[in-house]
Amino acid sequence: MHPKTKMTVLICLIFSISISLLFYYFNVSSSTKLASKLESEPIKLPPPIVELPNGTHKNLPAKQLIYRGELNSMDGVGYNFSDIDTTPFLKFHELNNLPNCDLSMDKLEPKTTSEKLLKGFHRCVDPIFENQLNPLDARNFSLKICDAIQKCDNIGEYKDVKIEALKNLHEIKWAILPKCKEDNVMVTLGIGHDVNAEVLLYRTLPKTKFYGADPIIEPNLQLYSSFGKFFPFALGDKAGMNRFKVLPNQNQKTRAYTYQDVTTIDLPYFFKNILNLTQIDFLWIDIEGGELTFMDHFHKGKQLDELGISVCQFNIELHPEFWPNGYEITHSFINQILKENRYIFLKPMTTTTGVYRLFFINVEDEKCVRKFLQ
Ligand SMILES: *[C@@H]1O[C@H](CO)[C@@H](O)[C@H](O)[C@H]1NC(C)=O
Ligand SMILES: *[C@@H]1O[C@H](CO)[C@@H](O)[C@H](O)[C@H]1NC(C)=O
Ligand SMILES: *[C@@H]1O[C@H](CO)[C@@H](O)[C@H](O)[C@H]1NC(C)=O
Ligand SMILES: *[C@@H]1O[C@H](CO)[C@@H](O)[C@H](O)[C@H]1NC(C)=O
Repeated sequence: MHPKTKMTVLICLIFSISISLLFYYFNVSSSTKLASKLESEPIKLPPPIVELPNGTHKNLPAKQLIYRGELNSMDGVGYNFSDIDTTPFLKFHELNNLPNCDLSMDKLEPKTTSEKLLKGFHRCVDPIFENQLNPLDARNFSLKICDAIQKCDNIGEYKDVKIEALKNLHEIKWAILPKCKEDNVMVTLGIGHDVNAEVLLYRTLPKTKFYGADPIIEPNLQLYSSFGKFFPFALGDKAGMNRFKVLPNQNQKTRAYTYQDVTTIDLPYFFKNILNLTQIDFLWIDIEGGELTFMDHFHKGKQLDELGISVCQFNIELHPEFWPNGYEITHSFINQILKENRYIFLKPMTTTTGVYRLFFINVEDEKCVRKFLQ
């Protein structure tokens, strides 16, 4: 090689190396910045409980979730949940050893019966609605539900129904674990940047498919896709656009919900056409008012019945305050539930004015009853 050419090649080499180093530096520094920003606000996981060989249990320290890659709404990478597989929750092994489900007939010795549960439920709840509340006054009806029916959680008829508490960062989700083993379906409507309770269920219950929907993609996609399938839309009574209260990504710390136009898919379409479900074992609904557009779908003979979809148990946060005629809708929903004998409800909770949490158990659907109650 001619010395001059050699020189040019060398200069070119040095130039390109410095350019790549410069690029590398900027790339690294921007992703380090992003990483440190994410690491400064890691998501706390509940402390795992592990079973020791001698049958005792031990609490491990709470883990923190560190996001695996750069924050990218469509990468589906998710947070690093590598610790999940090795530290299943206390009941995991117990549930994993259950016999396979045969839901074609009643158990020979059922733990409880629908009749018993309904009898206790109505004996306790009905007088509260009849005597203490004027059913015409929708606002008072809703306001008083929670306080008044709290005592009904302790009736003797419920003693054979074990309801587990799954703690989220901001509330408790309730669940009855199955009495036999088969694939389970869990659907979350409204993730709200918080999957602690789902993770608890994921670590507790083998063979469960998780589906979650939220119109806010970041960080719900990353959180949910670590253990389930995420859908980037809201649920409503019809497909289209709706003004819903949502929790934007930038408000993670303040948890300030704001109104935004979001794309909605109608609930029956989501369950039937997208998810192809016939039975939902666990349904958690927390969508800041949007639920009031479709709660009537759960009644007898309505949309979900028409599609042959049963819901075995659901946690719902009702927001009559956030929705036009919200109190009237809540009032007629609860009234209809009381008449139908399909669901009983427990675990009433009120947070701020106009926000109510309830846990519903299906005591009508044979498969649900056989799987969770008998
Ligand atoms: C059970 O085993 C653990 C360690 O494996 C030990 O620390 C603990 O003391 C044991 N408990 C009992 C009751 O033997
Ligand atoms: C995930 O976290 C574990 C420790 O909890 C670590 O060993 C592993 O390298 C992490 N994986 C990734 C891809 O960051
Ligand atoms: C409803 O509440 C308001 C104020 O709290 C009270 O004045 C009214 O009497 C209540 N109505 C019924 C039917 O309880
Ligand atoms: C829907 O699920 C049923 C089983 O419940 C299955 O037979 C059917 O093939 C599924 N349909 C689609 C389109 O995946």
